[in-house]
Amino acid sequence: MSGGILGRLRDLRALDAPTHGGHVLAYVYDSGMPELDELADAAASLARPVNGLDPTVFPSVAAMERDLLGFVRRAVHGGRDVTGSVTSGGTESCLLAVKTARDLWRTEHPDAAAQGTRPRLLAPSTAHAAFQKAARLFDLEFDPVPCAPDGTVAAADLIARMGDDVALVVVSAPAYPSGALDPVGAVAAAAKVRGIRCHVDACFGGLVLPWWRDAAPWDFRLPGVTSLSADLHKFGYAPKGVSVLLHRGRRQHRAQFFATTRWPGYPVVNATLLGSRSASPLAAAWAIVQRLGDDGFAELTASIERVAAGIRDEVARIPGLVVMGDPVGPAITLVADVAAPIDVRVDPHRLADELADHGWRIQHQPGFVQSDGTRLPRSAHLTLTPVLERRLKDFRRALTHAADAVRGRRPADGRWMAGAVRTLGYAADRVPGPAASWRLLRLAGAGRVTQGQPMSTLMALIEELPAPVAEALLAELLARMSEPR
Ligand SMILES: Cc1ncc(COP(=O)(O)O)c(C=O)c1O
Repeated sequence: MSGGILGRLRDLRALDAPTHGGHVLAYVYDSGMPELDELADAAASLARPVNGLDPTVFPSVAAMERDLLGFVRRAVHGGRDVTGSVTSGGTESCLLAVKTARDLWRTEHPDAAAQGTRPRLLAPSTAHAAFQKAARLFDLEFDPVPCAPDGTVAAADLIARMGDDVALVVVSAPAYPSGALDPVGAVAAAAKVRGIRCHVDACFGGLVLPWWRDAAPWDFRLPGVTSLSADLHKFGYAPKGVSVLLHRGRRQHRAQFFATTRWPGYPVVNATLLGSRSASPLAAAWAIVQRLGDDGFAELTASIERVAAGIRDEVARIPGLVVMGDPVGPAITLVADVAAPIDVRVDPHRLADELADHGWRIQHQPGFVQSDGTRLPRSAHLTLTPVLERRLKDFRRALTHAADAVRGRRPADGRWMAGAVRTLGYAADRVPGPAASWRLLRLAGAGRVTQGQPMSTLMALIEELPAPVAEALLAELLARMSEPR
């Protein structure tokens, strides 16, 4: 009986992109060590029935959190004044960093808060979208600072926008879309002088950069850094559902908590956004960290560095394609070489589609118009994992072949379809509803994206549409996927 159920699940899973083996260069983080996955499974299973809601009833949760926080704190050079919480993932860590900073800003600026001033959240354009989500949820004004086309942000541009109404300035280590390590040192120092909190979003790189050679200081070594996030379910190689948020100072950490005795039930004290929560991802991460220790992370990072060097070397030989900027850490972003003649350029959207046809998945990133009207080019993101080292030759060859196959082809173009959307009267202030969105998506061929349909058409369309329209279409696409039939 249950064999049939699990068989069905296996059939469903067979439709998924492979989570192991290095063929998918986004979403998944394979250490290449099957014994780590086995250990994580066993630990997760041991902790499965536990409710992480209440460590007074389940003290194993507090014990594992202590160890995990201690390990990450040491790795990011936090002293004894640094403490924090284990959260369910990068987004939750970012949300909580913002909520905490907003609450403290309101306490510290009672007059401005009483007059209804919305505090600002200042960040480079390349800061993770989770910060926009946080600004919307917690009522801050998101103030994105434009980056150069190579994905770097000038510290001076961020500093120039610092003011009394800034509750938090965010920098990334590194930024996901570009792989760039933001100028944490200069920004954190300027923020400290002005009494502004500074969060380092190291969700992506926080468990790689501590062992990366030659990364400029980006963590609690810098006195202006007041909080930092690092995801265990990325380069901590744990299953999804675990990240760490660290604060400088107990007072700041405690501002993150929600506690109430003002209802007839049990007193509620939540360090994080959820109430009841699984202890399994925590247990898995805890076990992996015990097993790897500093040396294990150092070895895995060395492997990622070799992968990065190998891919950069390969891209340097490919006409029409370049690495964006000078990435530091486990991401590389590919863009068309604008210095090459048009018929030699490699469109990253087409490149990603071509690689997908050959079993390699890199991630399309639409071109992006920033707040000052300048553009960040369309690109393809590559997350570099240790397992890829074993397939590096194959991947390098596939990259070159895919680039050869698409070189000089007309870049994916969404202008015709975007024109049709406009003709139908849709605009930033008039977004299509569910039925109209679905019709438009089908017209664009996007109803079939999960069945191997090239993504480049959809990405090119996103680039051309007003953001609210594109967002409505994408929300519809995902909602339709899970709608009961
Ligand atoms: C720099 C950065 N911050 C935050 C996040 C959000 O993390 P999650 O997807 O775990 O919510 C990501 C995810 O890729 C990231 O790269």
